[in-house]
Amino acid sequence: MALAEVPAPATPPTTSTTSTSTGGSPRSKPAEVETDTPHVRRVKFAWPEDQTDTWHHSMPEFGCGANAISLLMTYAEPYGVGQMRKGLGQFEPDADLAERADSLMRQEMAHLRAHKDFNKALTAHSRTARVLDRVGKWMFGRLAKRSVAFGVAFAAAFEIVAFASARWAEAGLRRYFTGADEQSATLFLWHLAEEIEHKGIAHDVLLAHPTAAKKYKLALPVAFIALIGFTAVGGLSLFVTSRHVFNPMRWARLIGWGVSFAFVVMPVAATSLTRGFHPDQLIDPPWMKMWLSEYDEASETMPLWTDAGLGSRAAMTATDGAIARQV
Ligand SMILES: [Fe+2]
Ligand SMILES: [Fe+2]
Repeated sequence: MALAEVPAPATPPTTSTTSTSTGGSPRSKPAEVETDTPHVRRVKFAWPEDQTDTWHHSMPEFGCGANAISLLMTYAEPYGVGQMRKGLGQFEPDADLAERADSLMRQEMAHLRAHKDFNKALTAHSRTARVLDRVGKWMFGRLAKRSVAFGVAFAAAFEIVAFASARWAEAGLRRYFTGADEQSATLFLWHLAEEIEHKGIAHDVLLAHPTAAKKYKLALPVAFIALIGFTAVGGLSLFVTSRHVFNPMRWARLIGWGVSFAFVVMPVAATSLTRGFHPDQLIDPPWMKMWLSEYDEASETMPLWTDAGLGSRAAMTATDGAIARQV
């Protein structure tokens, strides 16, 4: 994998401050919420031909859950982008919102491309992954039959769950990713980091859309079940068909992660239903934001996640191209 030796910092995102126009309604944007236009990065991943589905070498059970998420993303991302694009066509967004929504959609399409490539190895090595891939396709095919207003609300709700997932992952960064293949870990962490960066934009589209906000209370539990339910069922399906299934320590870890994740995601999801809520009020976990600033536009690379250090250049160079394989 070619990675830049001396990456330049990415162009700083532009920032604007938007005032509320409809203050007071349960689903209006609070006054003076600061909003960023995210930077669109196309991170290049060079997966080796013998890449396997068990990329997390010390905690394959964690890799199983992440693999389930990756399988879902190839349907969730295009659904969210498609619904948001249709939603934006149903009213006149102001120039700032149109620009930020465009950046969000381009980020999501970059995620889609990266996960598609990654998933080739998953589905090539695992029949369970192929079944899950079909289930994901079916789920989002069903959701696509619902109204555009629901789709916009679903996209906003999905972003809330994605943000909470990123917060959870950053809180246990070393715990969850130590022992993982560096490139695979980098894919998931880059995706999560950009979920933090664009956390409020789908919500702004929701607020500006004429009817989508009314669908949010329904869309939130549906998005929750789609993402969390699929990850739990899909991850467990991949795990029980692996040779690691008889290790009780791995089961104990899975239960612990489920509980800790619930404690992070439930309060954020519940808060999103309250009057005057906006995702930009949520405090970003700091490391992912800092790491994103290390993106190198010329080489389209991020510093690799490494066990030795959080994306240190020396560690990155030392491990460049070294993708360990677990059989
Ligand atoms: Fe995404
Ligand atoms: Fe997103």
